Amino acid sequence: MDVRFVKSSNDYKKCPQTHLPEFAFIGRSNVGKSSLINMLVGVKNVAQTSSTPGKTRLINHYEVFFNDKIKGVLTKQDQYRWYLVDLPGYGYAKTSKHERQHFEELIAGYILTRINLLNLFVLVDVRLEPQASDIAFINYLGQHKVPFALVFTKADKLSSAQVNRNIEIFKNEMLKTWEELPEIFITSAKKALGRVELLNYIISIIDNYWKNKNM
Ligand code: GTP
Ligand code: MG
Repeated sequence: MDVRFVKSSNDYKKCPQTHLPEFAFIGRSNVGKSSLINMLVGVKNVAQTSSTPGKTRLINHYEVFFNDKIKGVLTKQDQYRWYLVDLPGYGYAKTSKHERQHFEELIAGYILTRINLLNLFVLVDVRLEPQASDIAFINYLGQHKVPFALVFTKADKLSSAQVNRNIEIFKNEMLKTWEELPEIFITSAKKALGRVELLNYIISIIDNYWKNKNM
């Protein structure tokens, strides 16, 4: 698998032009977006991580190219090319109102206009009780019919019983407003947990995309 950095954009209108299938990662600041991206592509520092929240401030595009078999990943074709996007975090309290507005516009503009965006991964810290900003963001996606999956992060920091309990609590919170739950993944960037599951999910969506395009 190869990955190359394409571009950082401070305006959704300046994102790279492409017809390739695209997958974006979003979540509260410090949830582990950049770490998860590095874990997925198997490169340590392709996306910059930081213990200080608010590290990723731009829309970062990467091009991913599967050119060999990955253990456990069910590739029907040998070659897959897709775009992976690291988005700035939402809900970071310490940014100024002006800056927060800028990020909200950046994120909303991207999500609502990017036609090749096939799926958004919404990352949620598995250690926390349901956060208002996560629920609000998920409901916003529902209103705008944006396809997404939920990715719980930092699973290595809890026992599996605690992980399952917190996910149940989160699901119950969602079921207050949602009839159906999205696809759910449990991950740890530290332990590479959930990598194969996420890659298989991405590949199944890419397969469907090309199948429908060619019909
Ligand atoms: P911003 O770009 O600031 O919005 O943050 P981000 O969501 O990209 O988070 P980032 O990947 O930079 O990670 C934030 C912190 O959480 C870092 O200190 C990471 O080392 C840590 N972290 C991320 N994922 C995991 C994980 O799966 N397990 C553990 N134990 N720590 C993690
Ligand atoms: Mg980041």
